[in-house]
Parts: sequence; C-alpha cells; structure tokens
Amino acid sequence: MNISVKQGSLTEAECDALIVNLFEGVKHPGGGTGAVDRALDGAITRQIAEDDFAAKLGECMIVRPAGEFPARKVIVVGLGSSADFGVPQILKASASAIRRAKELKAVRVVSILHGAGIAGIAAYDCARATALGSILGVYEFKRYKTENGNHSAVETFEIVELSADKIPDISKGIDRGTTVGDAVTFARDMINEPSNVVTPSYLAETARVIAEQNGFVCKMMDRAEIEALGMGLYAAVARGSSVEPKFIELRYTHPEAKKTIALIGKGITYDTGGYSLKSTDSMVNMKDDMSGAAAVLATMKAIGAIKPRVNILMLIAATENSIGPNAIHPGDVVKSLGGKTVEINNTDAEGRLTLGDAVVYANMQRVDEIIDLATLTGACVTALGREIAGIIGSDQQLIDRLVQAGKTSGENLWQLPLHLDYKDGLKSDVADLKNAEKGGGGAIMGALFIHAFVGDTPWAHIDLANAMADKDWPLAKKGAVGAGTGTLVEYLAGYD
Ligand code: BES
Ligand code: ZN
Ligand code: ZN
Repeated sequence: MNISVKQGSLTEAECDALIVNLFEGVKHPGGGTGAVDRALDGAITRQIAEDDFAAKLGECMIVRPAGEFPARKVIVVGLGSSADFGVPQILKASASAIRRAKELKAVRVVSILHGAGIAGIAAYDCARATALGSILGVYEFKRYKTENGNHSAVETFEIVELSADKIPDISKGIDRGTTVGDAVTFARDMINEPSNVVTPSYLAETARVIAEQNGFVCKMMDRAEIEALGMGLYAAVARGSSVEPKFIELRYTHPEAKKTIALIGKGITYDTGGYSLKSTDSMVNMKDDMSGAAAVLATMKAIGAIKPRVNILMLIAATENSIGPNAIHPGDVVKSLGGKTVEINNTDAEGRLTLGDAVVYANMQRVDEIIDLATLTGACVTALGREIAGIIGSDQQLIDRLVQAGKTSGENLWQLPLHLDYKDGLKSDVADLKNAEKGGGGAIMGALFIHAFVGDTPWAHIDLANAMADKDWPLAKKGAVGAGTGTLVEYLAGYD
C-alpha cells in the first residue's frame, strides 16, 4: 500500500473509497466531512439521522453517492467522544476505516487527515497516526491460505488536505508512520510464520540481509562458538534441539553518537518447555516466543531509514527450547558467561537463561544502556492481560521514555516494580541462583533474574504479554501483534 499526500479538495478526489470522519453525537458534520456532505446535497447528514449513526470510535457508516461524485463510496468513520480524542483514537479510527475500505474491495483510497481540524492536533502527529493506523489495520497474514478467494488489496492511500502550508508536515508524518508501520508488519510476518520456517538460522539470515541493505556490521556464532565462549546458560537451553542455535549480533553506528544502546530480543523460535514440558494448550502459541527477536530485528530495519544519532548493538540468542537426548534436566547446574552458576530448576524458564548470557555479552561490549524485550512470563499475561506489556527496570527515565514512545505508536506499557527484596526467592541450595521460583510475582521474578546479570548498566525489560492478539483487536488482527517494535523505533527516533 502506497501512502501519499496531495493538496486539494476531498470533494474532487477520484477514488474507490473516500474516508471522512465524525465525532460522536454530531448530527451535522463540519470541516472536511461537512464539505463532502454539502457536495452530496446533505446525504451524510440524512443518513446519520436515518441510521441513527452514533460515530463511536471506529464505527463506520457507508454512504453511496448518487449521481456525479468522484468517489464511488464514502466511509464515515466515528472518532468517538471529542473529550477523549488524541493520537490513540486517530490510530484506531484509521485502522477501522481502512479495514472497511478493504472489505468494500477498494483499491484506491483517499482519506481526510484525522485530528487536524477542530481537535487541533499537530498535522505531523495526525499524519503519522493516520498512516500507521492504516498500515496496522490493513495487515493480514494469508501466506498459507492456498485458496485466496477474490482477495483484493488497497494499493494507494492518499491523504488529501486543503491547506498547502500543512503539506510538508503531513509528508514527514507519513514518512515516520510508514517506517514504523512497515517495521511492525515485518515483525508480524516473522512471528506469524511457524517454527518449522522461522528457525534460529532463518533469524540469522534475516539479520544478515538487514545488515547488507543498511551497512550494519553483522556477526554470528553457532553452537560450538557459543559453548567455546562460555555462554553456558544459553548453550544449556540449546542442547535440547538438533536445530542449530545462532547468536546474532548487529551493530549500527552514527559518527555523532554520544552513547551505545543494547537492544536484546528473546529469540526462542519454539518453546516446548523442555522436560518441564508445557501442556498442549499452553504450547500452541509458542512459535511467538521469538517476538522480542522479531521486534529488535524489525527495529534495526527501521533504524536504517531513520539513522538516529546513537550507536545500537542488537543481540539475539536464538534457539529452540525442546526435548532430546542431550536436553538439560530440571536440577542441572550450568555456568553463565560471567561465571555465575545457575541451578535450572525449571527448563520452561528458558528465556531468562538466554537473556542472562546476552546481557553479560552486551556489558562486555561496553554499552551505556540495555533494553531487552521478551515474551518472558505467563505471569505478566495474568497480571496485565493480553493488551498491555509489562515494563520493569533500573532506570526510571529510560522507562518513562519507553512508555511515552509506546503511546506514540499505539502500544500500552505498564510499569511493574523491580522489588529487590524478592531477590532472595532466586537463591539456590546448590548454585549462585536458580532460574525459577514458585511464589507469586512471576513477572518480577523473571526480571530480577535478568537483573542479576545486568550489573549497574541502566536497564529496562519489556515483558511482551501483548505479543499475540487472542481475537481481532482495533490495531491487530488475531495473531502476531509485532509488540514492542513501534515503541523501540519511536524511542530511538528520539535521538535525532
Ligand atoms: N515463553 C514463556 C512465557 C509465556 C507464556 C509468555 C505464555 C506468554 C504466554 C516462558 O518461557 C515460560 O514458559 N515462562 C514460565 C516461567 C516459569 C516456569 C517460572 C511461565 O511463565 O510459566
Ligand atoms: Zn518457557
Ligand atoms: Zn519462553
């Protein structure tokens, strides 16, 4: 879908579907929607009354113009109450409207710029959210449907705006929204692919291509190298699978950078639980256990376009968590890259093992800040539900900036406490630490385990409870969400 802006009048835009909008409870539209209504001799006003159209957020009403009108159909999308209106509402309204346009088999879509009228939001933010919401809303994963039906796709999406002085800002907003949206799409595709396709080698190859396209430095390690370096926690997880693990490293540098940020994504391409085997029901979605990896890879792709003034070290300790003749047993003791010993009392708490070694590796490269993204705990899903990610860390400023970046990109992050008193729960009878504990606060315990390896480096951990949409959401169809991607891209874009 190509997204662009054109200066002109909505009433003259030739297209299959014209998207306009309406605040909740409004019976006589004004602004751009009002102009379209007048050109249609009041057809929108009449239909609002006839259909009792409330214009709740995301609700759509279709008007079919009679006679000479350049748009074949008009979609009036509800913006919800004007009191609650902001960027999140623009994202949702845009997503809902384009989904409706797709159902109507529209190929050429023209849209009003949501939010720039009486709501008075800056044109750049409106355009960014309109573009991003449209890309997220139109997304579907159909690769394995052999019968495509008469599937149609929206090819062009054009924002039409009357005032010429807004066009440059709108154009910049579209650029950013498209960069973020394309990155999220890229992450979603990778996560939606099954684990028999997306293996650690697949992630490594993806990283290599991103490096080649953007001039990043790329390094890989295989099983023998991971073991030789002494990443004993990560190697222990990888032992259960005959599929080759890959430690993946991408490095982006900017000549004016003042700091280096490590982005670490959990890359378990399938989590069976190991000998602490998951039940069928809890295992079924576990191809999504590389969502953190997908987010950091997708972010690197976007970084190539945005080129922020910061250095980035992206790391993924990719492996399957499986069962096999060499797999670890609950009770085994292994040694981490830094030398700390860990009793693995639960092989299903594997993410923190791979991340423990990865953060030590990051610190060895002298980074100034560590952000890790991981589908780490079911407990985070229990605490926050499926639509909110947990964020825990040692640096409040970093956490605040990530939460804000989430708001910009339509992602919900909620801070959980790094309650250091709980650290005692990770004490082992036989080793320095154990990897799991049965008490409550599972999301905090997982974070505390990683924290034991982070040291003093400012750090934030995002527990991606929102990796998979369990049903169709306003901004994501049932399936992979690409969670964390938008947050990271917007956060890093702040280094401009
Ligand atoms: N990948 C899972 C966490 C998960 C489960 C995320 C369900 C999203 C939905 C992780 O590796 C895991 O199994 N964690 C265990 C930790 C426990 C054994 C301490 C969990 O959450 O049960
Ligand atoms: Zn697990
Ligand atoms: Zn896992």
